[in-house]
Amino acid sequence: MTTYAPLLKKALSPSLFALLQILGQRGDAQKLNVFLVGGIVRDLLLGRPNEDIDVVVEGDGTAFAKELQMLFGGKVTFHPSFGTATWITAKGQKIDLVSARTESYKAPAALPTVEKSNLRADLARRDFTINTMAIQLNPSSFGQLIDYFHGKADLEKKQIRVLHHLSFIDDPTRIFRAVRFATRLMYKIEAATWKLAQEACELVKLLSNERLANELQLICSEPHVVPSFQMLDALKIWKTLIGFPFTVNNEAHLKNWLEKRPILSKDLDWFSCLAVIGYTEEAWESSLQKLAFTHQQKRFLTEVSRLKDYFKHERNLSYGELHSLCRLFKEESLQFFAAKPFEQHAALIESYVKKRNNLVPLLTGEDLKLLGFEPGPIFSEMLLSVECAMLEKMIQTKEEAINWVIHKKQKG
Ligand code: CTP
Repeated sequence: MTTYAPLLKKALSPSLFALLQILGQRGDAQKLNVFLVGGIVRDLLLGRPNEDIDVVVEGDGTAFAKELQMLFGGKVTFHPSFGTATWITAKGQKIDLVSARTESYKAPAALPTVEKSNLRADLARRDFTINTMAIQLNPSSFGQLIDYFHGKADLEKKQIRVLHHLSFIDDPTRIFRAVRFATRLMYKIEAATWKLAQEACELVKLLSNERLANELQLICSEPHVVPSFQMLDALKIWKTLIGFPFTVNNEAHLKNWLEKRPILSKDLDWFSCLAVIGYTEEAWESSLQKLAFTHQQKRFLTEVSRLKDYFKHERNLSYGELHSLCRLFKEESLQFFAAKPFEQHAALIESYVKKRNNLVPLLTGEDLKLLGFEPGPIFSEMLLSVECAMLEKMIQTKEEAINWVIHKKQKG
């Protein structure tokens, strides 16, 4: 039997390797089988860095975690409904421990019901063969690979394959996961698996906002966003979720946006990437509204939509006019608009953004009070008017700004 102990030793830090040995020893002491499972085993075999430690215990994983904490310190957090525990060791290493379990799904896209069981049943509930390998940690079998579902063969064939034909129906988030692993590893999705994903694609509509957002965000934070979007398009996911396909023009918009986008919150990051889809369609805003869950996303959608409207008829706006229309718009909305290929107003918007960022106010509310203005809405009106005039290069100094507002006041 091949042992992967030398590979573990080579790939992991010495302290983590020692910790895995300790887990195996404590398993023996408690007469429990203990295994390293999931993504870390896959990545170990691929030589990819990964130190996310997932451990399955054939027995009570939470009691095992409690004992580890008593013996070695650190902190344990329990997640009782899933029978899982997270142990953060005294040195800060995070280890997720679970009792081997089976899951049954009461309805498509719902969260599963969980029961204790053995390693094989635990692995059988997982998504793809390449994620079902385990490495035993008990001393007499330390480093032994357990591969009930031929994950290693699929790694060699470079393919993503489900374990059973209901996998995507049980959990439609797996469609996104299949795409994510396929593009990350440059694997194909095996033919039968692809067909099952296609057949289940309507079910993504049943996912909760939170689960859907989480998957979309994970797709958008990997390096190969464009191939993932293409693959999801071929699976008809965009048609299902947004109502439009991902076109060649959308692809160019997305590429530009991925290069130029500023650092965004997670919510806005994935949402803005999706917003290229159907961008030139009349129903773009209303179609994307279905996926705008947060205030930030809604605001982005409204602002980009307004920009599309302003420029619909090829209007040539000056910097001042532009400022009075979108001084409160977020920079990302403006930049997203400008990232569309062949957008005639891209240069204008980009240079407006630069100018707006460099604008140093010449007057403050205090100045206006000293000039005899009564505080009220007139203040923001006057300050905006000064900013617009500055962008038009009509005024450059504080003195000119003062004359500007006095003149405006006199004109009423
Ligand atoms: N899993 C699953 N179905 C899901 C999510 C997860 O079967 N919808 C299983 C997979 O077998 C996976 C394990 O739970 O290996 C842990 O999930 P996660 O940490 O998301 O997977 P990783 O494989 O570690 O993914 P990544 O490399 O992206 O961290």
